[in-house]
Amino acid sequence: MCGIIGYTGILNAGQIIIDGLMSLEYRGYDSAGFAYFPDNNTDKIEVIKSTGKVCNLENKIHENIKENHPLCGIGHTRWATHGGVSETNSHPHSSGKVTLIHNGIIENYQELANKMAAKSKYPVSQTDTEIAAMVIDSYYNGDPYEAIKNACNELDGSYAFCIMFSDIPGCIFSIRKNSPLVGAVCDEGSFVASDVVAVIDYTKEYFILPEMTIAKLTKDSFEICDFDGNEIIPEIMHINWDIAAAKKGGYDHFMLKEIHEQPEALLKTIAPRIVNNLPDFSNDGVDDSLFTGLSRIVIVACGTAMHAGMLGKIMIEKYTRIPVSVDIASEFRYADPILDENTLVIAISQSGETADTLAAIKLAKNANARTLAVVNVKGSAIARESEYVLYTHAGPEISVASTKAYTVQLAIMYLIAYRMALVNKLADESVISLKISGLLDSMDKMKKMLEMDEELYLITSKIKKADNIFYLGRGIDYAIACEGSLKLKEISYIHSEAYAAGELKHGTISLIVDNVPVIAFATQDNVYQKVISNVVEVRSRGAYVILVTKAGKHVDTTLCDHHIVLPRMDEEYTPFCTAVVLQYLAYYTAIRKDLNVDQPRNLAKSVTVE
Ligand code: G6P
Repeated sequence: MCGIIGYTGILNAGQIIIDGLMSLEYRGYDSAGFAYFPDNNTDKIEVIKSTGKVCNLENKIHENIKENHPLCGIGHTRWATHGGVSETNSHPHSSGKVTLIHNGIIENYQELANKMAAKSKYPVSQTDTEIAAMVIDSYYNGDPYEAIKNACNELDGSYAFCIMFSDIPGCIFSIRKNSPLVGAVCDEGSFVASDVVAVIDYTKEYFILPEMTIAKLTKDSFEICDFDGNEIIPEIMHINWDIAAAKKGGYDHFMLKEIHEQPEALLKTIAPRIVNNLPDFSNDGVDDSLFTGLSRIVIVACGTAMHAGMLGKIMIEKYTRIPVSVDIASEFRYADPILDENTLVIAISQSGETADTLAAIKLAKNANARTLAVVNVKGSAIARESEYVLYTHAGPEISVASTKAYTVQLAIMYLIAYRMALVNKLADESVISLKISGLLDSMDKMKKMLEMDEELYLITSKIKKADNIFYLGRGIDYAIACEGSLKLKEISYIHSEAYAAGELKHGTISLIVDNVPVIAFATQDNVYQKVISNVVEVRSRGAYVILVTKAGKHVDTTLCDHHIVLPRMDEEYTPFCTAVVLQYLAYYTAIRKDLNVDQPRNLAKSVTVE
């Protein structure tokens, strides 16, 4: 949460920071700010802030800086944690000679604030970040390294800082702990940012700033050293997706573009892991021994990734008969979970930086459990903390509502289940080979589903007027219903709930009255009739029913108002098609309500706080 960027070089820092912040807006968008050296030779830092979107800040910058464009500056886009949304609370924050921006949370800020007040320094904002600026300034006597080091020894929590000292013009210092920061250098200058999307216009080479090291950026150098002053050489990484992947490319919204990118993202994720039509993780360095001798598997994740985990559980249990539990990471980390060396903990995360999932994987490691990360962002914290990593290759996902990252996570879970079955000799190669063909084939089916946009758009004319919506399903379809409900509420602001279809009558059916929309997924043969019975129950209470089945099912048309028919396919792969249904329904409902699809209120894509 919160996006930060710093730049010093030979170009217009104001424009670079604004462009960078726009690409980082998915991390927070309630206010934004920019600090800069107006002239590289003066002992002065100017700050411009604005509430609302980055475009408001951009207007202010253009009003304030008409000539002599600054060459060094830092910028921040905020997702409020401490203190409401206001210009005063937005970053950058200053104290004495220090001006900084921050992503993370300073947990002991109250204690530090009391200490500062004892030294007659009072904050003007309600933020933890301003306290951090005060602490650094209190240690500053002309040596930035000493000030940062001493201050960080006092700060608890998570942080990525970009810091400017007014008497060191043209220079930015950075440090991070449990919050992401990448660095990059090119002919035009030096960059530091929360995510590579902010620098990709300038370079495809970047590095992850090692934790608790201090970076010093000047227009032609990027030096990193540890707290003892030893120089640190970071590992250079290469962005393996094209710049076009981070742009809208003709689509109205990133979400729509990302929905359409799914078949390609799936292929990129699955194809490198197929050898002789069998799943194979040797190129990922994932040793088969990881999948043997296990008594239990625990999947930890948050939000959409957790819903991918629910399907992962079904698949792994089906193929291995090893008990799998799916835990919400924020619960798992405080639940004193039962873990040992025969437990495999799989963390699923698009960003690879979700604070709770990261904490969960650290806890698993400390308890000697085996760990495997399924993440999208290369080199991210969760990837680095885990014993093994399987990267999903969705490319950058910009829309806050996750779509393609979800379906590639599903694909990896299927591959894990199949590989485990093979390694443990629970299924023949011939069987798994057929499964792989089915999985690959489901991408074509998904392409067909993408053509159903008009049909699904029409259905949303009714949904958009609803106050409450229910998603029903059993088994695989229940996991899908959970994702459908989340997707709808996060971008359309309509209350919705997902129910295991058989559970509805234990209370919630009292909410089904005339015209309440019910979206029922009935794609699984073994429970098809059961779900249909549940549909009859809600229908007889007046529900407005949207029923989703596979082709080939004879459906009584009086049972539903809309019947969405998936292509003829093996029921194991229906999630790749039902995912498109739930994504389109959420997308078009939000469109009809004229809402900001890509940046829904109160949310951020990357949740780096608890
Ligand atoms: C946020 C996002 C969700 C995402 C969840 C977990 O809530 O808005 O789309 O599913 O975080 O994120 P992760 O990066 O760990 O998958």
